[in-house]
Amino acid sequence: MTVADLAAVMVVEEQTPGPWNKKQFSEELTQPTSGQWLAKVNGQVTGFLILRTVVDEGEILKLAVAKGHRRQGIAQQLLDHAFAQLQQEKVAYCFLELRVGNLAARHLYEKNDFCWTGTRKSYYSAPNEDGITMTKKLLTV
Ligand SMILES: CC(C)(COP(=O)(O)OP(=O)(O)OC[C@H]1O[C@@H](n2cnc3c(N)ncnc32)[C@H](O)[C@@H]1OP(=O)(O)O)[C@@H](O)C(=O)NCCC(=O)NCCS
Repeated sequence: MTVADLAAVMVVEEQTPGPWNKKQFSEELTQPTSGQWLAKVNGQVTGFLILRTVVDEGEILKLAVAKGHRRQGIAQQLLDHAFAQLQQEKVAYCFLELRVGNLAARHLYEKNDFCWTGTRKSYYSAPNEDGITMTKKLLTV
């Protein structure tokens, strides 16, 4: 992802609950611990994933797919790229958090061996909702 991609990324992001603004994405691109993947169909951005890696821990900060392209395996492909990167870097655990009511994402992460590890009361606003944290073990340590 580069600054030039951000207009297209924002179109997808605005179809998700609690979207980041463009400035937040711009700042993310400057973070040395951040990696980003774009999914494209016929040259058009249809999804993206943002991953932070610090020492032996990874955290998925963002994963989104455009509404018209969901249930076609795009998020799964993005996750597979992220897991491959984490394994290459010998990262032991991958974390993420999401809204408790986000059943699509919960199914996706459970299918990918993430386990529910905690609840954060009223963590999200607009609308107010609990957050859940999930963890996937990547390496046997
Ligand atoms: C969650 C999201 C990223 C899934 O993207 P996607 O490209 O549609 O997902 P995939 O097609 O790769 O689905 C892989 C698996 O996830 C699960 N899944 C995805 N969407 C689902 C839904 N609406 N209901 C139930 N399970 C779902 C299924 O197990 C699916 O496998 P299957 O299609 O073989 O049943 C997408 O719905 C999205 O962008 N939502 C808004 C943003 C968001 O919630 N991001 C995650 C928060 S961190």
